[in-house]
Amino acid sequence: MCGICGVVGRRHATPIVFEGLRRLEYRGYDSAGIATLVDGRVERRRAAGKLDNLAALLKKSPLPGTTGIGHTRWATHGAPTACNAHPHGTERVAIVHNGIIENFETLRRELEAAGQVFETETDSETIALLVDYHLQQGLEPKEAALRALRRLEGAYAVAMIFAGHEGLMIGACHSAPLAVGFGDDEMFLGSDSLALAPLTRRIAYMEDGDCVVITPKSAEFMNFDGAPVERTIQLTALAAGSIGKDGYRHYMEKELHEHPLVIGQTLQRMVDPASRRVILPELPFDLAEVPRAVITACGSAFFAGMIGRYWLEEIARLPVDIDVASEMRYRNPPLTAGSLGLLISQSGETADTLAALRSLREKAIHIASVLNVEHSTMARESDVVLGTVAGPEISVASTKAFTAQLTVLACLTIATARARGKLDTLAEEHLVSALLDLPSRAAEVFNQTDAIRAMAQVVVEARDVLYLGRGSMFPVAMEGALKLKEISYIHAEAYAAGEMKHGPISLIDRTVPIVATVPSNALFEKTLSNLQEAKARGGRLLVFTDTKGAERVSAIAEQMVVLPHVHDFVAPILQTIPVQMLAYEVAVLKGTDVDQPRNLAKSVTVE
Ligand code: G6P
Repeated sequence: MCGICGVVGRRHATPIVFEGLRRLEYRGYDSAGIATLVDGRVERRRAAGKLDNLAALLKKSPLPGTTGIGHTRWATHGAPTACNAHPHGTERVAIVHNGIIENFETLRRELEAAGQVFETETDSETIALLVDYHLQQGLEPKEAALRALRRLEGAYAVAMIFAGHEGLMIGACHSAPLAVGFGDDEMFLGSDSLALAPLTRRIAYMEDGDCVVITPKSAEFMNFDGAPVERTIQLTALAAGSIGKDGYRHYMEKELHEHPLVIGQTLQRMVDPASRRVILPELPFDLAEVPRAVITACGSAFFAGMIGRYWLEEIARLPVDIDVASEMRYRNPPLTAGSLGLLISQSGETADTLAALRSLREKAIHIASVLNVEHSTMARESDVVLGTVAGPEISVASTKAFTAQLTVLACLTIATARARGKLDTLAEEHLVSALLDLPSRAAEVFNQTDAIRAMAQVVVEARDVLYLGRGSMFPVAMEGALKLKEISYIHAEAYAAGEMKHGPISLIDRTVPIVATVPSNALFEKTLSNLQEAKARGGRLLVFTDTKGAERVSAIAEQMVVLPHVHDFVAPILQTIPVQMLAYEVAVLKGTDVDQPRNLAKSVTVE
């Protein structure tokens, strides 16, 4: 959620840390700060708001030194003020923290009783003052850090530097990611490999309960008792250049245009085009034997899961339970051991999804995760990872990761149906052909940009928008409504089209546009009837359809966007693209901060 970057070495630390923070700003962006050692003293600069404010402060008041840590914040405890911004610290130590310290009130009381004085409302300051307390007792930095770490409860990644200890940085994590980057006579810490991409490709991912003592030439890994642990250095495939905007106005626009590419890349991993068969990674369980599937996720990933449910039930005839992770983790549903647990997450770090994963594991459920970030906590804790090949997604609102998730779920559906004897070779070839056709059809969606922009002109004037869809188009409508809310701040609600008459129909008038996703499938006529009902009450219909449905839709719609006609199976993947584009175009018209909408964060690592 928050972003951490640190460096020890030979070069001026502040610009390196600042650039790392720029790459991490998508994780949280309400305040930021950097601390370095200047002639052995801890110096800090912190500013509320976006990183540009910190840049301005650093210009006025530069921060020299070769040992530094920095942070972008997404506030949990305490308002996003300069005072609550990280790094926190004293004259002896500075720390940056991502996560939540759950026992901070107890620790704070103890530390106050011992004479420590708190300046902020944050839970994170507790870490600084706890380490500081041990330093005051005469402990060396490593011992002071380990002593403090053993007291912390909750989820956290931290980086620390110490007055009088140039070239020393200590990192630690528990249920929050932290990566160590190996350079030449310099070393780095980062919340993810994106932060470190331009600095080094040699990275070691820390595991839960790891502490690392870093100098310019070494990284010593240990557990919180100080016992050494081995962590291997891996070469990341991320190139610095892969995370630019490539001439697009926003990351979101760039990522929308990557839909055809990521669908294709993901298929390359899971489909043999010659035999037209799905080839999944080896599974440590038998798909033919799983009695049920349990799907859970948050945000857009949850809507991908809902579409997965329609597919798994209809095509593989596998019963599916589904719930958002924040409910699933506490609902304690009766589950059958040996069922398939499907966790879906772009980041692989979302706190609720991770907790749901752990609760499913306790119930002897096989854990298969659909993840985009390869070295994430969920990846480590899953029985098998079904990877999406979407590349780094920077825009806070998920786009390309969603269609990549759907592509994986479609392949999983085919493999499950085959294993359960519900799909013969010919039928599999047919479905796989439809998938292989998708990247080209997805590229054609961009021919409709003008029509989508025309729709956006109507939507941008609205205060409320109703999204409708039936069957697998219902979650597509939900995704469209969520995107609109997230980035344009217009209230939108998605309804199963057949449910409209049980409530939202009373909202309909000229001021509440209706966005409907209606390709020509078995539910086409039914959905059209619902749209007629809305139109009869003065509703303005903005409809996404396909070439086969266009004639019928044009008779009732005020505006329509016509997509290529594709197989019903893959239609939700294709139809998602223009609903996301519509939200984007509305946000651009409204002039909102498209890539970093207010109050949101890319990877929600708190409950
Ligand atoms: C946040 C993001 C959403 C994303 C959701 C789940 O809310 O803004 O775009 O869908 O988290 O994230 P995950 O990384 O688990 O897919």
